[in-house]
Amino acid sequence: MNEQLIPGVSGSASAHTLVIFGGSGDLAARKLLPALYNLRQNNLLPEPLAVVGLGRRELDDQSYRDRLRSATQEFSRTGSPDEDSWTSFERGLYFVRGDFGVLSGFEYLKERLRTIEKEHATGGNRIFYLATQPSLFPEIIRLLGESGLSKSSGATRIVIEKPFGRDLATAHALNEISNGVFDESQIYRIDHYLGKETVQNVLVMRFANVMFEPVWNRQYVASVQITVSEADGLEGRGTYYEEAGALRDVVQNHIMQLLAVVAMEPPVNFQADSIRDEKVKVLRALRKMKAADVRSHVVRASYGEGVVGGREVPAYRDEEGVASGSQTETYVAARLFIDNWRWKGVPFYLRSGKRLAKRATEIAIQFKEVPHLLFGLSNPDGVPPNVLSIRIQPDEGISITFEAKEPGPAMRVRPVNMDFGYGESFSRVSSDAYERLLLDVLLGDQTLFIRRDETEAAWDAVMPILDSWGAEADSPLETYVAGSWGPRSAGDLLREDGFRWRRF
Ligand SMILES: NC(=O)c1ccc[n+]([C@@H]2O[C@H](COP(=O)([O-])OP(=O)(O)OC[C@H]3O[C@@H](n4cnc5c(N)ncnc54)[C@H](OP(=O)(O)O)[C@@H]3O)[C@@H](O)[C@H]2O)c1
Repeated sequence: MNEQLIPGVSGSASAHTLVIFGGSGDLAARKLLPALYNLRQNNLLPEPLAVVGLGRRELDDQSYRDRLRSATQEFSRTGSPDEDSWTSFERGLYFVRGDFGVLSGFEYLKERLRTIEKEHATGGNRIFYLATQPSLFPEIIRLLGESGLSKSSGATRIVIEKPFGRDLATAHALNEISNGVFDESQIYRIDHYLGKETVQNVLVMRFANVMFEPVWNRQYVASVQITVSEADGLEGRGTYYEEAGALRDVVQNHIMQLLAVVAMEPPVNFQADSIRDEKVKVLRALRKMKAADVRSHVVRASYGEGVVGGREVPAYRDEEGVASGSQTETYVAARLFIDNWRWKGVPFYLRSGKRLAKRATEIAIQFKEVPHLLFGLSNPDGVPPNVLSIRIQPDEGISITFEAKEPGPAMRVRPVNMDFGYGESFSRVSSDAYERLLLDVLLGDQTLFIRRDETEAAWDAVMPILDSWGAEADSPLETYVAGSWGPRSAGDLLREDGFRWRRF
């Protein structure tokens, strides 16, 4: 077995065969294969590595390789693959046709794997990556168990894409099936937000610096805002989105993970379970809403027609794959509270939407106002409070606004900005989240993956909202103009507390 140490990352990666259920799909083409190729280019991939894509399309090994080469050219952050290195990389790529619901397909896969593993000497180490329709996940896992593929002479791991269930009951059922076939230490529930450099940097900023932690609590923080806004619409995924909506698609997973990372207590060390222990405590401390709370703390809406990026776009209900009377939300704003010593009484405002004015993901910590204003005479409206903004994407970085004296004889103060930009400070492009996450799976590091109890705690937190919306009379679905920042009532949610949403 060829063991290779990865610089800057703990652990060692060994030879593997990566089996992608959905190897002919969009995620594999856009993200997974370009990420693997870039890892190889940076000498981070274990050698040897074989990749077996699975799907229904009529592809053979060579047409699959050609397809992935074009996809890498189109989607990789590093552009066109280098001729020689691609030729060597593609020797490890294979395609196997089959239906994910049929046992005989798994038996055939077993045969193919035997040959491929022998040819590449991958030592029986297997990673199964579920990159297909989530409704197929339970059956695939069950058949991996029944066919015996879940057991091999080497290490076996399974990566499960989001969404993990569509409510607490289905997430729990998927966990039961997964944990029946695999041990929790073999299961990697993915949320690609955790692979982003800036999200990991929240932990570094908080726990590798002494100056933030003393003020990171209810004594000094007035509110926290987490925004995940997209200018894009459905991009051809109307059928999927109709079933999901903004709460399931973004809030339950990405936003809950950002919230957990920003609000967690310092872990005892940086081991996977120590970090996940602290994250799950935050999710469990989220105040459970009652139906009446949902009405006053949550806004939901779907976009009407409008103009985005100078282009007229249709209303959500006129999009392909969307029902004309659809009740699916494309926007959610919510006010949550974390009932623990650190955060009691501090509102956490979350919002996510499609077809908003701009693409931006940000965590903003708004601090309290100074207790006594010395400059009141020159600044009749007071001075704005400090804000620490963590930009997750685009333009990754951190900025702090603070007050400074304006030049001149009068004692006037005004907010100024201190900015750290990832690109400028490190003069290199951050790697894609999937590169980091695939590498971690190969290394067997679960830190950036979601543990069973975390995913169920995150569902538990949003279930009252879903339940309340299920009773349609109680849950008005508002409309916002595409290209705007969402419905007016989302602004009211903050205005009534004396805050306002940040603009980008
Ligand atoms: N696309 C993204 O950017 C993205 C981002 C984040 C997360 N995800 C998640 O990744 C997963 C996959 O999404 P996707 O966009 O890649 O979906 P997709 O483009 O629709 O691909 C689905 C894949 O599954 C295969 N498949 C479907 N049903 C099958 C069956 N019964 N038997 C055998 N193969 C079957 C398809 O094969 P054929 O096409 O050959 O039939 C295709 O390879 C989802 O969980 C999604 O939420 C996707």
